[in-house]
Amino acid sequence: MTALMRPATEPAVRDSRPILEGPGIGYHQNWYAVCLSRELKPGKIVGRGFLDGKVIAFRGKNGKAQVMSAYCSHIGADLSIGDVIGDEVRCPFHHWQYNQEGVCTHIPVGCKIPDRARIQTFPTAEKWGMVWAFNGEKPLFDVPGVRGYEESDLLYGVKVHEAGFPVPPWVMVCNSHDYQHLHTLHELGIIEGPINMNSSDYVLEHDVHYTTRDGLKVENWNRVTGTNTFSAISRTPSGPIFGMFTGTRIPGGGTRAYLLAGVPRKEGKNKGRPPTRTEQFALVSGTMMSFLKDAPRLLRAAKFMQAFLDDDEGVLQTIQFRQGVMVEADKTLLGFLKYVREYPKADLLSAA
Ligand code: FES
Ligand SMILES: [Fe+2]
Repeated sequence: MTALMRPATEPAVRDSRPILEGPGIGYHQNWYAVCLSRELKPGKIVGRGFLDGKVIAFRGKNGKAQVMSAYCSHIGADLSIGDVIGDEVRCPFHHWQYNQEGVCTHIPVGCKIPDRARIQTFPTAEKWGMVWAFNGEKPLFDVPGVRGYEESDLLYGVKVHEAGFPVPPWVMVCNSHDYQHLHTLHELGIIEGPINMNSSDYVLEHDVHYTTRDGLKVENWNRVTGTNTFSAISRTPSGPIFGMFTGTRIPGGGTRAYLLAGVPRKEGKNKGRPPTRTEQFALVSGTMMSFLKDAPRLLRAAKFMQAFLDDDEGVLQTIQFRQGVMVEADKTLLGFLKYVREYPKADLLSAA
């Protein structure tokens, strides 16, 4: 074989450049979870690493959560150690006060408020028990959902994956399109897939039918939203399971990850109502589960989702991702990497 020939099984790869994000390059324009809703009581501020900077989420007395840059426009004090006054956040240093649009409304010493006394805000939403911020001036799409169900149709729990991952969120989400690893690492017997592939600029969907290593026959409806969120309905013999992994890029390029698992609500009086606080806690502590009538179903869903994460854990903690030698079986993965490479970026924190 001459140097110019490719092995017959290696598809032509036109673009194998590294997928980069960073200051001056920008970060994928995704909805990123900043914190759990239950962490943010009225009057509370939470500070979190976000992209290569830091943001705060705070909840005013009006109940509305808002995400904005953590650093004061005056001389840069960290607002996460400030206070919420009514619906505004007050800097801990010279007590300048900012409203939920990020505009300075008060300087205690009485100086005229400069027009530039503003904090960069992010479009903010609450869904799935989390406070989300969109990395862009305006959201390009809605907060990630799941195929076939609304949030209110599902009974679910959400938890933070405490260890996080030292890779960006899109590497975690790559798994959904890595068919070799479904076979080797997760030991799935692929019956059919990927099938019914659908894509738009910000969403990829496909189905896969498989058997688990325990012999369970499953039909998965998969969706990737942006580059950081995977959600699925897994239709198992004992009923559908809802699962979601979403990752937030943090300074240094790693991921803070959130895991959701759930089941459709049974028909009846609870159908269509939002999850209660107890249900939101359901995945955090096994003991809480016993208070729930639906605990066995929910626990089964949580174990089903956790098993996938457990399989992936070692690889995701150690991989140095690069698009190296690819083979025919990587076709679906290459399609995903192309989508990620072309994905739009923004950098609001550096611009602030
Ligand atoms: S640093 Fe915030 S008011 Fe001075
Ligand atoms: Fe995986």
